[in-house]
Amino acid sequence: MTTINDDGGTVRPGDGDAVERGMRLGSGSAVERGARPLLEVHGLTKTYRSKSVSARLRRANEVKALREVSFDVMRGETLGLVGESGSGKSTAASCVLRLTEPDSGSVTFDGVDVRALSKAELRRLRSRMQIVFQDPYGSLDPRFSVRELVEEPLLVHGLRDEKARRERALQMLERVGLSASQAELNAHAFSGGQRQRIAIARALVLNPELVVLDEPVTALDVSVQAQVLNLLTELQKELNLTYLFIVHDLAVAQYLCHRIAVMYLGEIVEMASSQELFDNPLHPYTVTLLMAAPVPDPDVMAGRRTALGTTAPAGSKPGPGCPLQPRCPVGMNRPECSSQRPLLREVAPGHLVACHYPGELKAAVAAPLANTAIPESPLNP
Ligand SMILES: Nc1ncnc2c1ncn2[C@@H]1O[C@H](COP(=O)(O)OP(=O)(O)O)[C@@H](O)[C@H]1O
Ligand code: SF4
Ligand SMILES: [Mg+2]
Repeated sequence: MTTINDDGGTVRPGDGDAVERGMRLGSGSAVERGARPLLEVHGLTKTYRSKSVSARLRRANEVKALREVSFDVMRGETLGLVGESGSGKSTAASCVLRLTEPDSGSVTFDGVDVRALSKAELRRLRSRMQIVFQDPYGSLDPRFSVRELVEEPLLVHGLRDEKARRERALQMLERVGLSASQAELNAHAFSGGQRQRIAIARALVLNPELVVLDEPVTALDVSVQAQVLNLLTELQKELNLTYLFIVHDLAVAQYLCHRIAVMYLGEIVEMASSQELFDNPLHPYTVTLLMAAPVPDPDVMAGRRTALGTTAPAGSKPGPGCPLQPRCPVGMNRPECSSQRPLLREVAPGHLVACHYPGELKAAVAAPLANTAIPESPLNP
């Protein structure tokens, strides 16, 4: 992946530490050092336009959901896309899978230009790229048994042998924790966590290489979230899966992701290894997200929100400067921030940030941050 730097040149974020990242996280997944990324996304841009007949209304209702979004994901790696609601995470995922057509930019999967594929070629490729959505209720038709639901992708992708289909579906369901007798029930008989297990079985039954997980545990009770996250981690190890993991909770991302890209209003504003992002957050927005992570003390929480604010103006139209400037305590009164859009640039190996004054907010809030533990990972209670 290349990224435009301040001088208009290009930089390539260091990816040589991928194996080290995998080892440090103890994930067991085999992230390949030096290999070509499985997924390469470059310059994705997407604007949603209303269908109004008036050009003025169309312009007024435009939402720039993605602006020049670039990232890559190595085989066996988990890249987290983190940001508040409306920051463009789902649109990015949808463009990667070509469920949504971007206005510009490229998506390359295992060396194949996804945007250049015909419908038939795209259908074949889809067996290698799957998605699990946030809402397991919406994705599972209650008229079918869960076995039939898990068999369906196999049928669509040409497995005509009924016995082989059934066996493969049952095997997959068993792997996600459902018995053969449960497999004959309809999806509505199951709890939210079990439904998400079924959705995971459906996504994995075709043996994909890349799985996009769009807030897979957000709709679940906290008590079930850890179980589903554990299952996803185990499956990644066993099947050497590559995950694009969309999540708004940085604390969850920290323990599941090798690297994290932080998005704000359709742009990646910071990207680094998970550890580096938590140890050394450089973008004021990342610091804000870290400070908004829930802690048991309501006074601490109130103080943080007052100091930094936590609400993104969804779909707002930034001026020529930095999109965060109206609410950024570092850049609020700095001319450079209101007149020049900061470009994503590499400030340390593998650590990219789009800010004219990286690290300033962290210095200002280092003490309160240091005194507050990020909540324990659900995977490491
Ligand atoms: N189909 C759509 N039509 C119009 N606007 C959309 C559509 N999908 C998303 N948006 C807008 O695009 C922006 C990014 O949305 P989304 O990608 O869903 O963000 P996230 O997943 O981070 O919450 C939001 O302002 C949202 O309202
Ligand atoms: S560029 Fe300026 S306004 Fe934008 S995040 Fe950095 S300091 Fe804040
Ligand atoms: Mg979303």
